[in-house]
Amino acid sequence: MTSVAPLIGCRIHAHGEVSSTQTVLAALASEGAPEGTVVTARHQTGGRGRRGRRWWDAPGESLLLSILLRPPIPPARVPQLALVAGLAITDALEAGAGVKARIRWPNDVLVEGRKICGILSETMSVDAGRVGHVILGIGLNVNQTAFPGELEDRATSLRLVTGRAHEPDRLLSAVLEALDRRYRAWLAGGFACLRDEWRGRSRTTGERVRTPDGRFGVAVDVAEDGALLVDVGDGVTVRVVSGALGEELPEHAREVERDAARH
Ligand code: BTN
Repeated sequence: MTSVAPLIGCRIHAHGEVSSTQTVLAALASEGAPEGTVVTARHQTGGRGRRGRRWWDAPGESLLLSILLRPPIPPARVPQLALVAGLAITDALEAGAGVKARIRWPNDVLVEGRKICGILSETMSVDAGRVGHVILGIGLNVNQTAFPGELEDRATSLRLVTGRAHEPDRLLSAVLEALDRRYRAWLAGGFACLRDEWRGRSRTTGERVRTPDGRFGVAVDVAEDGALLVDVGDGVTVRVVSGALGEELPEHAREVERDAARH
């Protein structure tokens, strides 16, 4: 059997404390770091989440990493990378910890309905209509036994769901291996070739959601290009593309659910 050298994780820069692994890797990328370069940290003082939020971590209890990608694609396809990463994380949780997880479109990874992993995709450069590089950030809750404030009833960790501590290095290997495999498959065949598996792990299909233009509907499927298809009634299906506005959608879905429960 022939084995191919891994692309993702070809170089790993492991840090103790940084402001954000995204920032550290952005600097390496601008110095010409190769595709697949990874930056990890035990703790971030300025961890970034989507939509300008902070990403909280307790030192040493999370897997915090950023991965440099240089895919030869137009910017419109970049949102698919977060879907690919979500699928890879579910693979890694099963292989590295025996935990079955679900994906909330576009890319939150949930276990027992609570968020265990967040994924941030930042396009750092575009040149002549092509992507220069993308930095994928992954924050996986590993050994936390409690979460502060508003996260308390929304987040979970591997330790909380399995009742035992986990070794971050073992999980890092599982994550890199899964990302390497899924990213190569995506480069070769696009999201279409991962779509059926993604659907099988989707938690969003069947949920009530609100589209970015304010209509309510039911998420019915994910398209070959990764867009969420929402049935808004009267035979109309709306395509929601992952990105700044599309990412609002699952939050709205929960608001709708909460409102429905109150009435
Ligand atoms: C989300 O909002 O769900 C995405 C969170 C992404 C957090 C990770 S942790 C490692 C990397 N560095 C950051 O500052 N953010 C990402």
